[in-house]
Amino acid sequence: MNTVFLNGDYMPIEEAKISPLDRGFLFGDGIYEVIPSYFGEMVGFKGHINRLNDGLNEIGIELNWNDAQWQTLCDTLIEKNGAGPLGLYLHVSRGTDTKRFHAFPVNVTPTVFAMAFEIPVAKTPDLVTVGKGYALSSSEDLRWQRCQIKSTSLLGNVLHFQEGYEAGSQETLLYNSNNELTEASSSNIFIVKDGVIATPIQDNQILPGITRRLLIDILAKEGSIPLEERIITLEEVNAADEIWITSSTKEIVPVTQLDSKKVGDGNVGTVWLKAATLYAINKFSY
Ligand code: PDD
Repeated sequence: MNTVFLNGDYMPIEEAKISPLDRGFLFGDGIYEVIPSYFGEMVGFKGHINRLNDGLNEIGIELNWNDAQWQTLCDTLIEKNGAGPLGLYLHVSRGTDTKRFHAFPVNVTPTVFAMAFEIPVAKTPDLVTVGKGYALSSSEDLRWQRCQIKSTSLLGNVLHFQEGYEAGSQETLLYNSNNELTEASSSNIFIVKDGVIATPIQDNQILPGITRRLLIDILAKEGSIPLEERIITLEEVNAADEIWITSSTKEIVPVTQLDSKKVGDGNVGTVWLKAATLYAINKFSY
């Protein structure tokens, strides 16, 4: 589990070396992706690569890899790292400059780094084995206003995650200065009230999560649980029957505590069970 890719070559992680003048190191000037793969099969590959390309375009990094090149890289990493449940981490920085200077350097080649890391085996959703669900803290979202970009500059997210971590929580739920829900420090959020699911609108305040998108599409296609994309107030979050967080490495996790208070009746919700089951059955068909 330690073969990585750096600028065209596969090597043990210990041999992967990057210059301190790399813009990713100096400025966090880069874009990344995390793609889940279970025993050789990736979830949402195309969506992940499209989001990576969108991010690169948005910050003006010209890499011009096609989907087949990313596919080969991912397949090779899977093969060389044991093909279990893996997160495939892809990272493109603007490249290595000759000095530290804020403006984009000309004629630099982007740095491409990729590695695989173990993620939990996706379990069949089950109210009993999932147990209590996660405990979350909440905090005002103090990150920048371009959260739709999956930037490697993650200090804002890291500081928010750490707040929850130090409070004994597994994630930090974030709300903006209007007391409207945005997302969590490394996940998107869904709430349920009276059988209706809601999740914040996709705008510059949240990452366009691939798990979020797949879940919305799967639920829409199945059609039995109503889902709204809309503004959600913090008041609604606090009064929700269920809260879930989603991400590529966690899939859909029920939240049973928020700021030490029970969510709903404090148990994992039945709407979560249905949605997570539909996700588990359908996630590979997108
Ligand atoms: N995090 N929002 C934020 C801020 C995230 O960092 C992530 C993912 C998500 C969920 O997106 P997706 O469903 O595409 O994984 C939402 C990744 C896994 C990470 O940084 O490790």
